[in-house]
Amino acid sequence: MSVLIAPSILSADFSNLQRDIKMINESKADWFHLDVMDGVFVPNISFGLPVIKAIKKHARKPLDVHLMIVDPDKYLAAFADAGAAIISVHYEACTHLHRTIQNMRQLGVLAGVAINPHTPCNLLSEVIANVDVVCVMSVNPGFGGQRFIRNTFNKIYDLKNLILQKGSSAKIEIDGGVDLKNAHELIKAGADILVAGNTVFSSTDPLATILELKAADTQLV
Ligand code: DX5
Ligand code: ZN
Repeated sequence: MSVLIAPSILSADFSNLQRDIKMINESKADWFHLDVMDGVFVPNISFGLPVIKAIKKHARKPLDVHLMIVDPDKYLAAFADAGAAIISVHYEACTHLHRTIQNMRQLGVLAGVAINPHTPCNLLSEVIANVDVVCVMSVNPGFGGQRFIRNTFNKIYDLKNLILQKGSSAKIEIDGGVDLKNAHELIKAGADILVAGNTVFSSTDPLATILELKAADTQLV
């Protein structure tokens, strides 16, 4: 599988959202990454269901919804109804993660689990077989445009081993500080999906930047 690119709408121009959605539709990007923040789990508030429903009307690619909220179980059905194809809940926000994963599967969405930079991958050992996507946070969640945490590489290796050991088909998504300098190294280490907010939307040519990220897996060195 070639790497999937998921531009994060958090860095889009919210006063020109339809234009930015159109740009992603026309680009080589694979998913829309949508960051939902509640001001409790993370120290920031972003957007929620009405905005996701509006994005769904125009988006021609799967919606990858990253829930940075407490008690995500309460809202899983609503986000699935709003058009999410993939939902990631935070390991740190779920008391009954196994049940939450079952709920996501029952709703027919891909089941994602996100882990904060301080959370070791092996804490997923008992659920990894039922997880479709592990979203490895490579910054502390809450804001776009932060600096990539290098320890993420160790976590990718650990996660890769866990996935193999447990016979899981989970994909590894990297979220935070992904840029044109680290994309190739991340893919080489085992990343399957790269989220990119600032790198895409602060670019003077977002289409070309998405193409470059997408081509990073064929880069030789
Ligand atoms: C951070 C979010 C990220 C963010 C990534 O809490 O989960 O998805 O939008 O943005 P960049 O790529 O700018 O670090
Ligand atoms: Zn995210």
